Amino acid sequence: MSERTRRVWTAWQERQPRLIADVLDALGRSEGTAFGTRLNVCLADLIEPLDAVYGGSTDIADLCERAVRIALAAAGARPEELRLLDRRREVDRDWFQRPRMRGYVCYTERFCEKLANLPEHIDYLAELGVTYLHLMPLLQPRPGENDGGYAVMDYRAVDSRLGTMHDLEEVATALRSRDMSLCIDVVLNHTAREHRWAQGWLTGDPAYADFYIAFPDRTIPDAFDATIPPVFPDRAPGSFTWVDAALGGTGGWVWTTFWPYQWDLNYANPDVLLAMLGEILWLANRGVEIFRMDAVPFLWKRLGTNGLNQPETHSLMQALNGLVRLAAPATVFKAEAIVAPEDLVPYLGAHDRYRPECDLAYHNQLMVMLWSSLATKDAELARHALGRMDPIPPGTSWVTYVRGHDDIGWAVTDTDAASMGWNGFSHRRFLNDFYSGRYGDSFARGALFQQNPLTGDARISGTTAALCGIEDSLDRGDAAALEQGVRRLVLLYSVIYAFGGVPLLYMGDELALRNDRTYLDDPALAADNRWMHRPWMDWAAAGRRHDPETLEGRVFGWLQRLGAVRRDVLALRGGTDTVLLDVGDNKVLAWRRRHPRSGTFVGLANVADTDAVVDLGRLAGLGDLQPVLGSDPMEVTDGRLRLPALGFWWLAEP
Ligand code: GLC
Repeated sequence: MSERTRRVWTAWQERQPRLIADVLDALGRSEGTAFGTRLNVCLADLIEPLDAVYGGSTDIADLCERAVRIALAAAGARPEELRLLDRRREVDRDWFQRPRMRGYVCYTERFCEKLANLPEHIDYLAELGVTYLHLMPLLQPRPGENDGGYAVMDYRAVDSRLGTMHDLEEVATALRSRDMSLCIDVVLNHTAREHRWAQGWLTGDPAYADFYIAFPDRTIPDAFDATIPPVFPDRAPGSFTWVDAALGGTGGWVWTTFWPYQWDLNYANPDVLLAMLGEILWLANRGVEIFRMDAVPFLWKRLGTNGLNQPETHSLMQALNGLVRLAAPATVFKAEAIVAPEDLVPYLGAHDRYRPECDLAYHNQLMVMLWSSLATKDAELARHALGRMDPIPPGTSWVTYVRGHDDIGWAVTDTDAASMGWNGFSHRRFLNDFYSGRYGDSFARGALFQQNPLTGDARISGTTAALCGIEDSLDRGDAAALEQGVRRLVLLYSVIYAFGGVPLLYMGDELALRNDRTYLDDPALAADNRWMHRPWMDWAAAGRRHDPETLEGRVFGWLQRLGAVRRDVLALRGGTDTVLLDVGDNKVLAWRRRHPRSGTFVGLANVADTDAVVDLGRLAGLGDLQPVLGSDPMEVTDGRLRLPALGFWWLAEP
C-alpha cells in the first residue's frame, strides 16, 4: 500500500464513527447494522480504486464519504420487498450461478409492444424455463435516431412509447413473483446530447462542469484518433464531433466514441461517477436486479492507446460495484466488454490480485468461436482459443450466448489464428465472406456491417436462423438443407446451455425467426442493418410451438429440453471452470465441467456436416459418464461414439 493510500485510510477512520452513527439513525438498528457490516466488507474495494483513479487530485476520504452517503440514501429509500430480496441474496450469494438460470433477451416493443402487456407473456417465458429477462434499452431515449435506445436522455424515465416507470416496476414485481429477475442496460459511457447533464454542461451550469470532454481544435482529437479504432467507421469515423455550442459557445470537438449524438461522460471528474451511481441506485430501487453495463471498456481515455480496457476503467467498475452492493446487495453487474479474451476476464475481477468487479460477463469468445467453427467445419481453433483463456474467479459466471442484438465482430486474435497456421486477417475476412453468403458453399444469409474501407474490416448482421442456413433452405425449398440448418441452431444452443454460466436465448431464436427487413421502411433505423436481427415477435409462429411437425415446434421443443435437462445438472452451475478436451476428432468441440458437489459433465458437439467419431477411451479417466441428452440415438462401437453431422451429446456422472 502506498503512503498516500495509508493516509486516506487514516483520514477515513476519523470519519467512520460519525458516519456509522448516521447510518444507524437513518436505517435503524437492524438494517443499519447490515449496512455497516457491508461497508466494512467492501471498504477496501472502495477506497483503493477511488484512490487509484482520483488520488492525485481529490480528497479521497471525502469522496468516499460522499459516495457512501449516496448509497445510504438509496438504502433508506429501498422498498421493503427489495430489502427482503437483499436478505435472501445475501444468504444465497451464488443464486445467479445455479443451473436453473436461463435468460431471455428481447426488445419490449418488438416482443409485446408495451410494458403493461409484458406480464401476460410471462407464461410463455416460463415454458422456456426463463429465470432472467433482459429487456433491451427502455429508458427515455433522445427523439429521432437513438442507437436502439443506447442514447439515453433520462435514466429515471421509461421511453414513453413503452409505458411508464410505474409499468416497469410492475413488470419487475410480476417477474419476481415467478422467481425471474429483471435485467436492463445502464448506458454508462455516454448520454444523449439532449440529456439534462449535457445541456447543463453546454450552458455552463457549474453543477455539470467537466461532465463531458471537448477540445477547441483538432490537435488533441487527432492525436487520440491516431490510435483509437472507430466503432462505426462508415457513418461516424473518429471519436469526436464538432459542436458549435460547446466550450462556452466558441465551439469544440466533443468526445463521441459512438454516434455523434452520444456524448462520452468524463469519468476523470468524480462527480460524474457519483451522478451515475445515483442513477443506478435509483433504478435498483425500482426492482432491477441485473444491470448490463454497456460498453464498459471505453470509460477511461488515455493518449497513445486504443482507448479500451484502461486500469482506471476497472477501478471505476470496482468502486461502482462495491457501492451498489452496499445499498442493494441483491443486485449484480453484467459486463458488456466485447474485447479480446485476455482483456475480457479482468472484467470479472481476475487481476493479479482478485478484486470484485462485475459478477457476470458476456462470453464473447465462445460466441465467436462457435460461428467460426461452423464455417470452417472444424473445432480445433475453438478448442485452442477457449482452452488458453484464464480461469474466472469462483464468485462470478459467464453469460453464454449464440446471438445478441449487435453485429458479430470476429474477435479471433492473430495469435490464435497463427496457432492454426492461419493469417488472422484472412480468416476474419473469410468469416465475413462466409456469413454474408458470398463464399462458395455458404449456407448463411447475413450481411456485412460497418465495412471499413481503410482496414478491410467488417462485422456481421443476421438472425441465428439466417446465419445457420434455415432462411436460405426455406427460400430454396431444400428440405435436407433445412434439416441441417435446424441441427446447426440446436447445436449452438446445446453448447451455450452447457458450457457453464447463464445461457441467454435471444428472442425469436426459439422459433427460428428469419431476418427482418421491415427496418428499411423506418428512416430512423434504415442505415443500421443490425435491425435485421432484431425481429418483431411473430406470435402466429409462436402459436405453432407445440406442434412438433412444424419448424417452430421442433426448435422450441429443443430449447425447452435443453433448459429442462440443464436445470438438474449440478456440474453446469457457474463458479467452476470449463476444461476443453481433445477427443481425437477435430470436428468435435468437447469440454468437461465438474463442480465440487457434483460428478463430471462432458459436452460434445460435432460442428461439421459430416459424421465424427469420438474415442471414448479419451474420456476414460473422467468417471462413469452416462448419456443425459443428445441429438441422435447413441451409437457406440468398439469404444467409439459416432457423432452424426451437427450432432451433440451431453454426458454426466449420475
Ligand atoms: C453497446 C451496445 C450497442 C451500442 C453501443 C453504444 O455496445 O450493445 O448496441 O451501439 O453500446 O451504446
